[in-house]
Amino acid sequence: MKLREHTALTFDDVLLVPNYSEINSRGAVTTATQITPEIQLNIPIISSNMDTVTEAAMAVEMARAGGIGIIHRFLTIDRQVAEVSRVKRAESFRVDDPVTSLPETPLKEAIDQMRERETSGLVVVDGVGKLAGILTHRDLDLADDLSGTVASLMTPLERMVTGKPGISRDEARKLLHQHRIEKLPLLDEDGKLVGLITARDILKARQHPHASKDGRGRLRVGAALGVRHDDLDRAERLLHVGCDLLVVDIAHGHSNLAIDMVRKLAERFPGVQIMAGNVVTPEGVADLAKAGAHSIKVGVGSGSICTTRLVAGSGYPQLSALMECAPAAAKHGVTIVSDGGTRTSGDLTKAIAAGADCAMLGSSLAGTNEAPGASVVRDGRRFKVVRGMASLTANVGRKEVDQGQVADAEWEKVVPEGVEAVVPHRGPVKDILHLLVGGLRSGMTYSGARTLKELQENAEFARITGAGIAESRHHDVDKI
Ligand code: XMP
Repeated sequence: MKLREHTALTFDDVLLVPNYSEINSRGAVTTATQITPEIQLNIPIISSNMDTVTEAAMAVEMARAGGIGIIHRFLTIDRQVAEVSRVKRAESFRVDDPVTSLPETPLKEAIDQMRERETSGLVVVDGVGKLAGILTHRDLDLADDLSGTVASLMTPLERMVTGKPGISRDEARKLLHQHRIEKLPLLDEDGKLVGLITARDILKARQHPHASKDGRGRLRVGAALGVRHDDLDRAERLLHVGCDLLVVDIAHGHSNLAIDMVRKLAERFPGVQIMAGNVVTPEGVADLAKAGAHSIKVGVGSGSICTTRLVAGSGYPQLSALMECAPAAAKHGVTIVSDGGTRTSGDLTKAIAAGADCAMLGSSLAGTNEAPGASVVRDGRRFKVVRGMASLTANVGRKEVDQGQVADAEWEKVVPEGVEAVVPHRGPVKDILHLLVGGLRSGMTYSGARTLKELQENAEFARITGAGIAESRHHDVDKI
């Protein structure tokens, strides 16, 4: 038995001592962070791979804001792949495989197809792939007879504007504007359809200039995996639809199972971007890094809905975990993610200052419109549910996914390490991110830091007492 000499600390135990600063505006700082060799984020925030936090809707908004969302793994492979594809199809510079229809397809079938594929129009091509027309809601909305074929209502080729495959974005924008059209099919020399540029995609790119995007202008997204053999098939399917980041996620990431899984992924899918965890020690960081992970999640038991520390007596206060893991990450050329326990923008700032390259957030984002699940009304106020992925209901729900049903005895076998809870409904996630990033920017100016690296270099933490914590909160006033 050993006892560590030093006291391990967490966010509330410290404050950042303000530094001399020549940064007079929050706009003068950058919050960009490189989390893997290929993935740079413009805001250092990742939404948790929890089933009450991240599915496609959350991941889309996270990427638009400059962060990234990780689709949770408690879904069948098909459903997780579908969630990833929805994110990848949400935006792009150009659509390489537009949804198409034949002129002779019945309109009813075409309308079903539009609904299923969540598209506002179908490009109509003949049997050899040559453009024949386009069918959009404008052709359908006011029509009184939908019993014919696509050809009966489509806008035919002779009334369409098209572009060449190599057209620049700006040329495409001009054409779309000049002709007041929404879709520009791209045709090769034989008149065959090779792509599509939409006004909506160009508009989205303008609205979200800091979005996290891949080389084809698609939003970035990650997906979580476990360590079972079929998780390799899951990985293959996820990568096939363009998943940018695989996250090997198990409660105790410093284990042979997690290390083996990372190694297998790195070997089987060369070049794939891998995040893995969770660990709280430099040895854990080193072992996952050596196996091939590019980014390591740090945090055991720090999450708002976690009870691991109570149930298992195991864990490590989050600030010390980051401070101790950061040098190991630097030594092995990997990054670290502070996972769990970030309640405020002040905590986010402290996590980065302590060495994290970004933070993963669960319950702070679970109350937003984009988190999965409906809001519930309690005593006249709206709430959303958040649950630990090791909570009782999540464990049983997972067995449902695996086996299709749950026997009564299954409930009794579970030893939960997380809780089910509610958080206030908080509106769009972009508003929460705006506040978190605004606070981080402010923290950077107090530390005289223009970049997250400078924040880490300049950071000086002071330990505080209970009285210091009380002084930090609003006090001696009645909050309204
Ligand atoms: P926050 O504090 O942001 O933390 O809500 C989110 C992180 O908590 C972890 N997590 C769990 N940890 N039991 C645990 O011990 C659980 O049931 C559980 N569910 C989630 C996870 O790392 C997440 O990102």
